[in-house]
Amino acid sequence: MKGVRIVGFGHYCPENIVTNKDLENIVDTSDDWIIKRTGIKERRISNGEGTVELAYKAALEALKNCNLSSEDIDLIIVSTISPDRMMPSTACSVQGLLGCNNAAAFDLSAACSGFVYSILTASSLLKATDKKRALVIGAETLSKIIDWSDRSTCVLFGDGAGAAILEVSDEEDGIISTCFYADGKQGETSLVAGELELNTPFAKEAMAENMYMTMNGREVFRFAVTVLPSIVNELLEKAGESIENIKYIVPHQANYRIISEASRRLRVKDDKFYVNVDKYGNTSGASVPIALSELLEKGLIKRGDKIILAAFGGGLTWAGALIKL
Ligand code: ACO
Repeated sequence: MKGVRIVGFGHYCPENIVTNKDLENIVDTSDDWIIKRTGIKERRISNGEGTVELAYKAALEALKNCNLSSEDIDLIIVSTISPDRMMPSTACSVQGLLGCNNAAAFDLSAACSGFVYSILTASSLLKATDKKRALVIGAETLSKIIDWSDRSTCVLFGDGAGAAILEVSDEEDGIISTCFYADGKQGETSLVAGELELNTPFAKEAMAENMYMTMNGREVFRFAVTVLPSIVNELLEKAGESIENIKYIVPHQANYRIISEASRRLRVKDDKFYVNVDKYGNTSGASVPIALSELLEKGLIKRGDKIILAAFGGGLTWAGALIKL
């Protein structure tokens, strides 16, 4: 049985910083409310770069950090819920820009769990086929599906991209335990965006209602504080591992209060969780790879460390992986 290792990361976020104070000029909110209820201080909002461009720049960073060239990549998966176009896929556009001529490429849609879903998909494909190296990217320009007049959602989200490179290895498998789930019924009522209209000569529907993100915040909050600890416990149990041996838990960055409640339920200190939601807000599928890339950049993780990735979001979906770097 082939093993797969994650060998490096990269990330890129737009330079434009939008602070809570900036949002006070747009909707009826306050810096104090946003920090107290979410932990978010600022987020990056694109001034024109689309999802393809963010994904491409994160991928370039990952390739550079791993000393690899575009020809070394055999598979590209992009997790996004905010593509620039329906077709070509973001992954195909990135493949073309990078010149990864050997790579198959496709997008995967699982909202904030999308990067973890993509890691599981890429590692399975590397084990099952003759592909040797995969580039997995989470990239979002959520700013284009945000209703900027809705204070209950527009303060939460941001734009950005993160990337990881996985390769087949003769060593033990770096993906130690995994889990992934969905609840489509609950997803219909709690988190919806990007609805397309049916408007043909044969059938017409009423105007699509949910082009922009709508969210039942309390429902999503309750869901998140339940699944986040359960992902961690399931991964540890499946791996026969104890939490003391885990260097970091890298959760989806949605709200500091969700992370804090999860750490209370797991009886671990808050600093076991890596948190950067204060700087970027919720970047959906990009949040976990941006956090991983920052951890590596800051020298906080190294080869051999065990890390838990835990994500939850639209769909509803939730997923996790216990990895050894
Ligand atoms: N500024 C000021 N007041 C606000 C704002 C704002 N930006 N937004 C809401 N309020 C008000 C509400 O109108 C409400 O006022 P009322 O009591 O007069 O009716 C009050 O604040 C409390 O509102 P709640 O919704 O109860 O606030 P809560 O403490 O639940 O926090 C929040 C809201 C931050 C959205 C929280 O529910 C949350 O984080 N939920 C999870 C969201 C999430 O993680 N979503 C992403 C999932 S991932 C994905 O796939 C996209």
